[in-house]
Amino acid sequence: MPELDRDYWINVWREHGSSTRYEHPQLQVMRTCAGQPLSDPQVQSIEVDILKNLDLRSTHSVADLGCGNGWFSRLLAGRCRTVLACDVSRDLLSSWDSDCPSNVQRRVGDIRHLRFNEGEFDRILAYGVLQYLSLAETLTLFQTLVGSLRPNGRILLGDLPDARRMWTFFNSADRRAAYFRGLVDQSPVIGSWFDPDWIFHAAHFAGFEHVDILFQPEHLPYAHFRFDAVLGRPNSDKLS
Ligand SMILES: C[S@@+](CC[C@H](N)C(=O)[O-])C[C@H]1O[C@@H](n2cnc3c(N)ncnc32)[C@H](O)[C@@H]1O
Repeated sequence: MPELDRDYWINVWREHGSSTRYEHPQLQVMRTCAGQPLSDPQVQSIEVDILKNLDLRSTHSVADLGCGNGWFSRLLAGRCRTVLACDVSRDLLSSWDSDCPSNVQRRVGDIRHLRFNEGEFDRILAYGVLQYLSLAETLTLFQTLVGSLRPNGRILLGDLPDARRMWTFFNSADRRAAYFRGLVDQSPVIGSWFDPDWIFHAAHFAGFEHVDILFQPEHLPYAHFRFDAVLGRPNSDKLS
């Protein structure tokens, strides 16, 4: 079977960002259930979970990788010093021109190629984005990010598709057909599925000292097939 085009997901998101520019914000970032945008309370439950896991301080410099329309960047911006918000879709980034907080810097770019300074961030959020990277690209990103964290810095990887619970997502004949057709046509439905043990070992290999695999609280909308992980850099306090 041929390899997936390395820019397949970049093209999907550039096209999606452009075609949904004036749509509901949750549709813009594909945060849906049965084709409908998640409700405000559902999104708020995710926000609460992100803030708990990030443990932000007002002095922190934060990066939001694959920030999309900045929904979470804006949440974080009110609680920290600065946010660097990166995304590959220029349209998604510019869709919040009118309400971009002054302490947020936006950058168009592919997170597989971004380079950061040593110790630039206290916190990094990558929510709902790693699935668009291959395993090798994910490992390379971990290796890049470990040095960009300050002591006691941490990264929250949010909403990772769980390889061990793939069939709870592809839970009907139609969904499984879409999955298998996508495999053959090189047009995958979700992207990469991660075994939590793979994340644990890959993060340690990349140089993170602390890795916590977090199963999402059951009331979160995607808890049945996604999980989160917090990675802590060397010399940081024990997590949790
Ligand atoms: C599911 S959306 C999540 C957006 C945001 N993190 C959130 O949770 O609201 C995925 C985002 O990742 C971005 N993305 C995908 N691959 C990327 C890459 N290689 N570099 C930068 N951004 C990427 C897409 O453009 C899209 O905005």
